[in-house]
Amino acid sequence: MTWWRGAAIYQVYLRSFADGNGDGIGDIAGLESRLGYLRELGVDALWINPWYVSPMADGGYDVADYRDIDPAFGTLADAERLIEAAHRFGLRIIVDIVPNHTSALHPWFQEALRDGPGSPARERFHFRDETNNWQSRFGGPAWSQVDDGQWYLHLFDATQPDLNWDHPDVRAEFPSILRFWLDRGVDGFRIDVAARLVKQAGLPDKRGRFEGVPTFTDADGEPDKDRPEVHEIYRDWRTVLGEYGPDRVFVGEIWVRDPERFARYLRPDELHTAFNFEFLKCAWEAGPLRAVIDQTIATHAGVGAPPTWVLANHDVTRHVTRYGRANSMFLKREHGVPTDLAAGTRRARAAALLTMALPGGVYVYQGDELGLPEVFDLPDELREDPVFARTGGLDLGRDGCRVPLPWGGDAPPFEFGKGGAWLPQPADWRDLTAARQLGDPDSMLSLYRLALRLRRSDPALGDGELRWRDSEPGVLAFERDPGFACVVNLTDREIDVPAGEPLIASAPLEGTQRTRLPADAAVWLRTA
Ligand code: GLC
Ligand code: CA
Repeated sequence: MTWWRGAAIYQVYLRSFADGNGDGIGDIAGLESRLGYLRELGVDALWINPWYVSPMADGGYDVADYRDIDPAFGTLADAERLIEAAHRFGLRIIVDIVPNHTSALHPWFQEALRDGPGSPARERFHFRDETNNWQSRFGGPAWSQVDDGQWYLHLFDATQPDLNWDHPDVRAEFPSILRFWLDRGVDGFRIDVAARLVKQAGLPDKRGRFEGVPTFTDADGEPDKDRPEVHEIYRDWRTVLGEYGPDRVFVGEIWVRDPERFARYLRPDELHTAFNFEFLKCAWEAGPLRAVIDQTIATHAGVGAPPTWVLANHDVTRHVTRYGRANSMFLKREHGVPTDLAAGTRRARAAALLTMALPGGVYVYQGDELGLPEVFDLPDELREDPVFARTGGLDLGRDGCRVPLPWGGDAPPFEFGKGGAWLPQPADWRDLTAARQLGDPDSMLSLYRLALRLRRSDPALGDGELRWRDSEPGVLAFERDPGFACVVNLTDREIDVPAGEPLIASAPLEGTQRTRLPADAAVWLRTA
């Protein structure tokens, strides 16, 4: 079995993980200093968000040089050292590759601006004399005008011009970038916006609903998404990766809802895995969760790929907050939505055990293991996510899930670094610091550490299959071989724990014989 089929992968949002030089911005030195924490947490690999040279108009998803490290994060030598150090700690490294667009400061775009309309340099992007009706994913039009009157396409911010994937230079550049990082020892790539690289020829208008704020939920197979030709790119990339042996891996960021179309990206000669956003989007309800789990397993089995389970990332409202709401979908990023954080935290604990017990790989977004909630009361002038500005504040944007981690101490910046923190941390995070939680066996961090350790050593967990047990409505119960069961209680009352030896529970079992599982709780059982 290959490692990635059942891996636990920790997402490092570098700017907010740990600051090594006291300038308030997380960096490679900070990450290196915390590798011990990650090894003790029990994950197998790290996915590091973009660390390349960037003006940081979109947190580094606007890349000006794909072959060097942004000075805010360190140097290329620091990155090389980090990769080696992580490997010594038994942690693999997955880096983020951003092929849909560059930064406007990328030399190709600068050249295109200089050389003017009709120049070969403009053909690497989508320059036109007239626009179509496409909207940016971040709000507002997907076109911006340059001084000579032409318009260029950007599905995201105006500082992120979309590359033209019909251009041979673009096709050739990315395999070369992959090799650059593979030669430096990275174990894989997370592919940003993987379904959108190819646009329909002629860039036709979209039909139907597309006005207004970004929703992240539009249909598949549109002129700017999930074009059949995109699969050629990943077949090409897969041969490059294959030259480096069977242990290097691709994970695609693929927001494609149709299961059959989604699965096409995971055919044996394309990507190894992709994020399971249907699961992430699912409400905290037994019926829909079971349906999405079954759908996921069936979809992946059809192409022989392992499922992945993801609760959160740097783009969505933190799930402690989502699960504390009546509507636990992830789209509400506005002030004043009633939220019960205690309930959200209970459910997040149960969800952690659920995801870690399901067959396949699991992702942990930094701060999940501390139970961090979304932060809403950031001063507007400190918000950096272009979504905030481009929607005129209708969408608060994603800064609230990117607040620097609290490591220890009683006051901000909670040992994030010796200086401040680029976004202010709530004062009450003093109760959520890693140091404080390490000393508390009932903390979220202790739950994650024990669960990840059990998951690692238990042959029933990770890659494989599950069998549902009959259970009452509102309860998810399944078995895995050999001798393992997971029971999640999504009802609002206690239920009986089935036979077996409890290995870990997300809440204390009740009753004199400890045979009752509280509401919003999960338990793992050894059954043989
Ligand atoms: C992906 C990233 C997101 C970024 C966008 C544009 O969705 O996860 O953070 O803003 O792509 O690159
Ligand atoms: Ca720093």
